[in-house]
Amino acid sequence: MIPLEIKRIKTGITGLDDLMEGGFPQGRSVLVSGACGTGKTIFCLQFLYSGARKFNEPGIYVTLDERPDLIREDMLRFGWDLHELEEKNLLQIIDGSIAKIGIPSEEIFSLPVTGFDLDKLLLEIMRVSKRINAKRVVIDSIPALGFNYENENEIRKAILKLSYMLTRAGVTSLMTSEIDEASNRFGKYGVEEYVVDGVLVLHYMGVGTQANRTLHIRKMRATAHSEDLHPMVISKEGVSVHSIDDEYKQT
Ligand SMILES: Nc1ncnc2c1ncn2[C@@H]1O[C@H](COP(=O)(O)OP(=O)(O)OP(=O)(O)O)[C@@H](O)[C@H]1O
Ligand SMILES: [Mg+2]
Repeated sequence: MIPLEIKRIKTGITGLDDLMEGGFPQGRSVLVSGACGTGKTIFCLQFLYSGARKFNEPGIYVTLDERPDLIREDMLRFGWDLHELEEKNLLQIIDGSIAKIGIPSEEIFSLPVTGFDLDKLLLEIMRVSKRINAKRVVIDSIPALGFNYENENEIRKAILKLSYMLTRAGVTSLMTSEIDEASNRFGKYGVEEYVVDGVLVLHYMGVGTQANRTLHIRKMRATAHSEDLHPMVISKEGVSVHSIDDEYKQT
């Protein structure tokens, strides 16, 4: 019998879970898409931090863009001590940020300097996942992954393999990508949005003299979700998602 109810994984991001039947479908993958500075990295780290702190669910953060030491430092601004979680095996960071340019990492978990290799990355994710019994995985970012390939076909194959392997491993995963405004794509390579089960779009738009952040649930398979553009705020507590009504109430 196919269960009517799908198991949900709470994001722990204030205001978001209620907009999608209580959370992401468990064991699926979701794309967090947006231009630079829209808050993708903070959003994803909050998913892992909340998962570990509130729900005792270990997570893995694969960074292909930023250096882990800087991420740890930046997240302290929100009061999130990633190092402490790492010591408790509730979080592990895999550093793929500099392997691609041939510089060795000082991190415990990293890719070898012999160049980027997707299979090695997958192996490392699976190894760490088994060790800490990971329930959540973040890949930040797909365009940085694409940097390692010469042609788009290879990149597409790599994205497909990555998403397939993560789903097969039973973890709930987030991947970040860029929006290609010109072609109305939600990912950079035109496949990300199709291989994932959900797409969240983050916008940072200027209206008059003010810039506003919004979050839009563009797709979430097997889920009745909000179709509105929701105001999103990054404060010293991290990311929170609001409804348009809340905003009106404040003014
Ligand atoms: N402590 C803070 N309080 C409020 N806003 C902050 C704080 N720290 C960062 N921000 C905002 O978040 C933005 C950075 O967010 P983040 O790094 O998650 O974006 P991103 O979408 O991952 O960007 P990129 O595509 O460059 O990786 C900053 O540009 C700033 O606007
Ligand atoms: Mg980022």
